[in-house]
Parts: sequence; C-alpha cells; structure tokens
Amino acid sequence: MRSKIVAGNWKMNKNLTDTETLLAELSAKLPDTNAEVMVSPTYVNLAGATRALENSTIEVIAQNMHFAESGAYTGEISADMLLSIGVNTAIIGHSERRAYFGETDAILAKKVAAALAKNIRIVFCFGEELEDRKSGNHFKVVESQLKNALFSLDSNAWGKIVLAYEPVWAIGTGETASPEQAQEMHAFIRKTITEGYNAEVADEVSILYGGSVKPGNATEIFSKPDVDGGLIGGASLVADDFVAIIKAI
Ligand code: 13P
Repeated sequence: MRSKIVAGNWKMNKNLTDTETLLAELSAKLPDTNAEVMVSPTYVNLAGATRALENSTIEVIAQNMHFAESGAYTGEISADMLLSIGVNTAIIGHSERRAYFGETDAILAKKVAAALAKNIRIVFCFGEELEDRKSGNHFKVVESQLKNALFSLDSNAWGKIVLAYEPVWAIGTGETASPEQAQEMHAFIRKTITEGYNAEVADEVSILYGGSVKPGNATEIFSKPDVDGGLIGGASLVADDFVAIIKAI
C-alpha cells in the first residue's frame, strides 16, 4: 500500500531561532497519524533540525541536492553531505528551482540518478504553468516532465520516488486546483506510469498535490482517491496550520 505523506516545504524562510521554535511546536502538537510527516528547513538548519527531531517521527528532508559527488560546485550540497547529517530524502525539481535556477529536465534526471545511487529518497516535483493549462497543454507538459526525468529508471527504483504534482499557477497564489482538477491530473499521472511501466509501479507510488493547500481545503483535496497527501508551502510555516493539514489526512 502506498504511503500517505504530508511534507512541508519551508523554502527560504525561517532563521535558526524561528526554525527551533517551529520544530518544537510541531513536535509538541503532532497528532497521531498513519501518514508520514516531513519538514524541509533551509540547508544551514538541516543538521540542527535532525538533532532536534531525533526522537520524533517527523522526517527532515532537503529542498534540493546537486548531482555531482563532490568538487568545484560553489554553493552546492552533495548527497553524501545530506546523508552524513541524517537526511535521507530530497525534494528535486521544484518549479522555483526550474524557473529561477535553470534546472532543466536533463539536469533533474542527473539529480535523480545521483540521489538513487546513494539510496536517497526523492520527492519529485513537476507541474504545468498557467499558459499550459489555458491552452489545454497541461497533460502533455506533465507527461513530458515525468518521462524526461524519470522514465529511464528501472521499475525497482520507483520504490524510492514520491511524486508531487504542483501546478505552477497554484503555488503561493491562494488559487488552488480544485479537488477535481487535482484528481484528474493524478489519475492521468498514474495512467502514464502504468503505460510506461506497469499497474503495480503506478499503484505503489505516492502522488502528493501541492499549491495553496490550507487547513480549509486540505480535507476535500485529500479525499480524492489518487491524491496521497500534500507538499505544503506557506501553510507549513505555521504550526497550527500544518498540524490541521496533517489531521486532514
Ligand atoms: P504554497 O503551499 O505556498 O502554495 O507552496 C506550494 C509549494 O510550492 C510546495 O512545494
């Protein structure tokens, strides 16, 4: 059975003190849940976060990682560095990385391969822009993002992959995809994986929805059969909101 997951993508928010405060609040308020709960503070606070959550079921994950093992990549972070501080999962392919840092499908395929080579689990993000949806190209765009970065993997690699469908027009805009739009795309993603691999791989992969998920809309979005949880931006920065979203699943 695929996992239910609620993951917070903190992006470039929270200094050290704010990180410690939020982690302490989350630990104290974490509800009983069968879902996996993840948080991703910024790089400089990852090691502290893994220590602070040592006795917690909340997993600390990275927002990004580089594809090279080591070397002359100023400002970058390798898989080994993450593993050495107890971080075993990384977000790869976030639309902000694609848009502002030039991460192409080809680069993302290299990052995916590098993460898998080190047994790092991946939360792989993808999703169409507003123009794609307006012009009816959203299925095509999503299909090519998936295929270009992931479809040369062996089927057994998919056990290490979590997908996060995040339509760019819904990120940080307050305009969420409707539960029906999310379900329609998630079902399409599962069908695409069934065709590229098989039904077992497609059934086992968790597909999260991301884009303006809030306490007020989470229950309805999570109630859809192909939505296995959420990747939460803004609402993951407020303990009570994130906890409410965890309760919704
Ligand atoms: P918001 O929840 O702030 O829209 O962000 C979604 C997101 O980008 C998570 O990765």
